[in-house]
Amino acid sequence: MRTRFTEAFGVEHPIVQGGMMWVGRAELVAAVANSGALGFITALTQPTPEDLVKEIARCRDLTDKPFGVNLTILPSITPPPYAEYRQAIVESGITIVETAGSNPVDHLPHFKDAGVKVIHKCTSVRHAIKAERTGVDAVSIDGFECAGHPGEDDVPGLVLIPAATAQLRIPVIASGGIADARGLVAALALGAEGVNMGTRFMCTQESPVADEVKRQIVANSELDTKLIFRTLRNTARVATNAVSREVVDIEARGNATFEDIRELVAGARGRKVFEDGDLDAGIWTAGQCQGLIDDVPTVGEMVSRMVAEAEEIIARRLASITGATR
Ligand SMILES: Cc1cc2nc3c(=O)[nH]c(=O)nc-3n(C[C@H](O)[C@H](O)[C@H](O)COP(=O)(O)O)c2cc1C
Repeated sequence: MRTRFTEAFGVEHPIVQGGMMWVGRAELVAAVANSGALGFITALTQPTPEDLVKEIARCRDLTDKPFGVNLTILPSITPPPYAEYRQAIVESGITIVETAGSNPVDHLPHFKDAGVKVIHKCTSVRHAIKAERTGVDAVSIDGFECAGHPGEDDVPGLVLIPAATAQLRIPVIASGGIADARGLVAALALGAEGVNMGTRFMCTQESPVADEVKRQIVANSELDTKLIFRTLRNTARVATNAVSREVVDIEARGNATFEDIRELVAGARGRKVFEDGDLDAGIWTAGQCQGLIDDVPTVGEMVSRMVAEAEEIIARRLASITGATR
């Protein structure tokens, strides 16, 4: 499957593994690269820029295919040293970066000067247009279905992706709610040049999260997510559990401030879920596409199955509908 995205970024398949806090580590990213898709190490999962340099080197030991680094830029009272992480990325010779969160405008000239291609992940057409004007090479657009931050507009991918591709010239990667070949073919039909997935990649053999989490994703349906931080206008879609239910309840009472939920949503607690498999230790990110996931394959099996089935859907099911022969 060749698209403008595979051509521009030098990858075999139009499939991307987006940055994932605590999950986007060398083992997973190298497996994604070896499968012919494009994976991103999550910069901020590494406690310091020096640790990121080591993680990139570790990934290079595991693959000789291209991979990138995700830099998530979120507003914070004590922001991480973004410029130093950026420098670590550039000096490590990384050539593809996924930015997310805020507008990447401060970082873009530095990446461009170093010949780094940037995919900016956003959640609205207006932000995608702004990113294109700023000079990014592609955008990933997350629909409302997605794991993590879907924004505040609540527009699902079925509308958001064609609305975006109608207005953008750079390649658009459809993100959110995609977990198999059907989603890939649908995204291509909507005008996207590829797909970005989080939850599906988290539920693979090489994903560095506890087996209990993977089993829970398989057991969960499309109904098993909660939207937290709605009242703070910083919505996040996370898996349903005792903690996310409690956060939603507190927010529903009205007048909740971040202080009222700070302890419940602490990053260290979420990390415990992934590391210890204690599913109610904190909040953990997962999307509605949990309802489409019913196994824990290796990354290689999952990607090659997705590509083979997508080709099959296009060549047989769709061709038979139009009466075209193979
Ligand atoms: C566990 C987890 C952690 C995530 N952390 C980040 C992150 O730190 N930065 C980011 O840009 N996106 C993050 N995401 C979002 C994914 O990169 C991707 O956009 C999203 O998962 C797509 O939706 P899907 O899960 O329905 O495929 C995370 C997703 C998951 C599942």
